[in-house]
Amino acid sequence: MQAWVIGNWKQNPATNHDVNTLVDALLKATSKNNAAASEAAITPACQLMVAPSCIHLANVSDRLQGSSLLCAAQDISAHSHSTGAYTGDCSAQQVVDAGASWTLLGHSERRQYHQESNDTLVQKLDNALAQGLGVVLCVGETQVQYDDKQTLEVLGEQLSVIKALLAQSSNQEPEFAQMLAPHLIVAYEPVWAIGTGKVPTVAEVSATHDYIKQTVASFAAPLTNVSVLYGGSVNADNADDFAASPMIDGALVGGAALKADSFLAIAAAF
Ligand code: G3P
Repeated sequence: MQAWVIGNWKQNPATNHDVNTLVDALLKATSKNNAAASEAAITPACQLMVAPSCIHLANVSDRLQGSSLLCAAQDISAHSHSTGAYTGDCSAQQVVDAGASWTLLGHSERRQYHQESNDTLVQKLDNALAQGLGVVLCVGETQVQYDDKQTLEVLGEQLSVIKALLAQSSNQEPEFAQMLAPHLIVAYEPVWAIGTGKVPTVAEVSATHDYIKQTVASFAAPLTNVSVLYGGSVNADNADDFAASPMIDGALVGGAALKADSFLAIAAAF
């Protein structure tokens, strides 16, 4: 199974200058052809991807052309129209035009600050796939839900977005599920672990990932071989522990992705 390490830059960096500095550092460390690289190029076995904010997407994707890094959007519009009177939105077609090949969807910060519902996410998933975008669907329970041992129930409910997509009349052929699997990644991000320095044990994450894999494989049109990444306070010090589990197919990284060194150290673990 292909491992992935994805940097979710969220609403960072503040300036185009700082974005360029970060991208240049990533390129310098990973490019074999970079004459300025004084050390051997870092060539992680995993697939690297970064998700800049929408305003920086085209610039970052231009700079990454020809490199081994892919570029993702952090979100897309729920409206199916490529253009229209939707102030503040970016359509799937627009982010593809800006150079994204994937998009994150359903991050807990979108669910929390923008009240994203499962219905909205089904529409976004549909829009993304229709434009050829791969989707990293984020799921995860809050601290209260974790304390109440409701994690699996919450995840089952969030994964119903995929089930609903597969239930649409146009998507019911088994071939659709086979087509979908390589274009879908699930990222398990416990809300209480995001940016807090608190992490679940590797055994807990592995058991949760096992549940996610079994759940999507149990749909009427079974989805097998879907990568499941862990996200939530992953850093250069704990990445090896997560990478050692065969149930953890990579990492979705927030804060530690904003420095090339720490992002690439995480990538090296996978
Ligand atoms: O999407 C990544 C994420 O929410 C985790 O953030 O800062 O805890 O690595 P962080």
